[in-house]
Amino acid sequence: MSGLIDQFGRTATDLRMSLIDKCNLRCRYCMPAEGLDWLKKDDMLAGHEIVRLADIAISHLGIEEIRFTGGEPLVRADLVDILDGIHTRHPQVDLSMTTNGINLERKIDDLVSAGLSRINVSLDTVCPETFAKITRRDRLTKVLSGLHSAKAAGLSPIKINAVLLRGINDHEATELLTWTLEHGYKLRFIEQMPLDADHNWTRANMVTAQEIRDQISQRYTLTPHEEPRGSAPAELFNVTEPSSGRLLGTVGIIASVTEPFCSECSRTRITADAKIRSCLFSHTETDLMDLLRDGSSDEAIADAWRQAMWHKPKAHGQTKTGLGMPGFVQPERTMSAIGG
Ligand code: GTP
Ligand code: 5AD
Ligand code: SF4
Repeated sequence: MSGLIDQFGRTATDLRMSLIDKCNLRCRYCMPAEGLDWLKKDDMLAGHEIVRLADIAISHLGIEEIRFTGGEPLVRADLVDILDGIHTRHPQVDLSMTTNGINLERKIDDLVSAGLSRINVSLDTVCPETFAKITRRDRLTKVLSGLHSAKAAGLSPIKINAVLLRGINDHEATELLTWTLEHGYKLRFIEQMPLDADHNWTRANMVTAQEIRDQISQRYTLTPHEEPRGSAPAELFNVTEPSSGRLLGTVGIIASVTEPFCSECSRTRITADAKIRSCLFSHTETDLMDLLRDGSSDEAIADAWRQAMWHKPKAHGQTKTGLGMPGFVQPERTMSAIGG
């Protein structure tokens, strides 16, 4: 069995599957206020097709973990069946989900029973007004109760992804960190990437990892975390109380723009309409839907996937066409249609 290797020597062992492009929030860094033209049902992978692709990825291509994303994966009605179908066949594979947390409270027990082992929740603020400004929806309490129920269901670790936006929540980094430390969630700040529908991103206006570290350091002491980072996008820091030296927890910074980590990338992505994306910023995609629906064998699908990943770009960051450079062209898909 040969895995998903690329011409620059990386091997993808981490599969990210976007289950649906729809979402019940409209985060400014992702979706436009009016939403997007959603995929038609027939153009989306059916539940059994998702289970088959996961099976091929694990059995033929060396995939070791799967993360479900959206849009918002909880919007998908057959999410529990999908998890169950994969987990029953491959109980050793870690199944995780990145979600906005809305409706998590209602579904968490079924998800855990079906084999979900971890979740990451997107939350940029604990201030209701700021939440409504960023997501264009007044639903902070639903997210908080979702987080609470995930903790009660025993999921661990629970990570929180936060994006800081200039003039909206850029002054709230320390407050959010204090709140997550108190509740036992693992916070990671993500530098905003040019994947928004409104094309409002500018390099100059983005809140940088350095700025975030500086802000938090005014309140807490940050020291590099001892564990090796490997292919994880987040650089981890220990957070200690300056007066007592007591360790309070960790914070992660995902510096996709200013400190890109492409050389260590272990990810392959598939969209809800069955397109392989070798990179978040790819301009080309490889369609697997036709192969899935024309009777092609698992091995033929695995081969097409290998081919697609062989051509994974070297990097998005430090080249002439890197993020924010004059030659950079934003991918047509927004984050909601890629899945993060
Ligand atoms: P775990 O560490 O296993 O929990 O996974 P993760 O950190 O990859 O999961 P999550 O979906 O929460 O990813 C956090 C964010 O990191 C994503 O939403 C992206 O913004 C960013 N990210 C993840 N993968 C990549 C990548 O391949 N390239 C870049 N530039 N950013 C990524
Ligand atoms: N830049 C960085 N992160 C983003 N996310 C969504 N859009 C962007 C963007 N433009 C994050 C969300 C979520 C994950 C799927 O991606 O916060 O946690
Ligand atoms: Fe929905 Fe996530 Fe996009 Fe926000 S970032 S609109 S929660 S898909």
